[in-house]
Amino acid sequence: MTYSRIAGTGGYLPERVLTNAELERLVDTSDAWIRERTGIAERRVAAPGEGTTDLAERAARRALEAADVAPESVDLIVVGTTTPDRIYPSTACRLQARLGAFGCPAFDVQAVCTGFVYALGVADKFVRAGSARRALVVGADRHSHLLDWSDRGTCVLFGDGAGAVVLERSDEPGIVSTHLHADGRYEDLLYVEGGTPIGNGRLSEGNAYTQMRGNEVFRVAVRTLMRIVDETLSANGLAKSDVDWLIPHQANIRIIEATARKLEMPMERVVVTVDHHGNTSAASVPLALDVAVRDGRIKRGDRLLLEAFGGGFTWGSALVRY
Ligand code: ACO
Repeated sequence: MTYSRIAGTGGYLPERVLTNAELERLVDTSDAWIRERTGIAERRVAAPGEGTTDLAERAARRALEAADVAPESVDLIVVGTTTPDRIYPSTACRLQARLGAFGCPAFDVQAVCTGFVYALGVADKFVRAGSARRALVVGADRHSHLLDWSDRGTCVLFGDGAGAVVLERSDEPGIVSTHLHADGRYEDLLYVEGGTPIGNGRLSEGNAYTQMRGNEVFRVAVRTLMRIVDETLSANGLAKSDVDWLIPHQANIRIIEATARKLEMPMERVVVTVDHHGNTSAASVPLALDVAVRDGRIKRGDRLLLEAFGGGFTWGSALVRY
């Protein structure tokens, strides 16, 4: 059997730290409220002129370095992002130009916060099918661009960043299974209106902000993530105790704790970065993975459960033997 395995991970966060104290000066909020309701203490925001491709390139180069492979040897690039610098070309094509991996397929996957898990699922299938030997999979978002900085319900939640993995063909897993889902009926709970307008007219201005009914999103997210944990374990005939590390999407510490409880996992086995990263959307899962690989918590052979939930609604998971 052919599988894909993670050969290297990388991550990048912009330099600028935005603290809760600074947000207190922008909107009617408090450090205590943000910490208690979300677990977030600070987040990073991209510098003016620093785009999603810039974030993606930094993370990608670190992953390639960790895998000890040359950028030109990559034969597939998939980027999960909802904040492309341009409507086209895709972030993946722009990243390919920077890396010099010319000729290989390169495309974006748009699944909001589930973007990386979707991208990983797609790239894994290319490798398993024999269509790629070495894939670069990136989750990158500059969500700060989509925020109304006068809306306290959303502006305290998000941060910018990028994470990446290099996948390589292998005789052993690797990526054991991926599980991807969507339910488009929930659009009204979480969306950004702007886009190419339907009918006449030019690109819309002034409506390019994240609109979220947070409380309702929260309830569906908890329910859905619990289901996907069950689905992933039962697809592989595994017990809860077989998972070494939970690497969840970092939207809210209360959602993460609820999923960990469902898995009967102590929080010491859960990678948490939401406190310092905020919700970095498609970047959150690969960034958390990279942090725990680099600090030595995650070791070769460990069994990882990656999961995410986001706009669409989309949700997904990956069971990984690191
Ligand atoms: N500071 C102070 N008060 C606030 C703030 C804030 N930043 N934001 C909201 N409030 C107020 C509300 O106005 C409300 O006040 P009211 O009771 O007077 O009406 C009160 O706090 C409670 O509001 P809720 O929305 O019920 O608060 P909740 O505990 O649900 O927390 C939060 C809000 C943090 C947004 C939470 O619902 C959440 O995390 N939701 C899920 C977000 C998520 O998972 N998104 C997934 C992916 S994101 C993506 O795909 C782009």
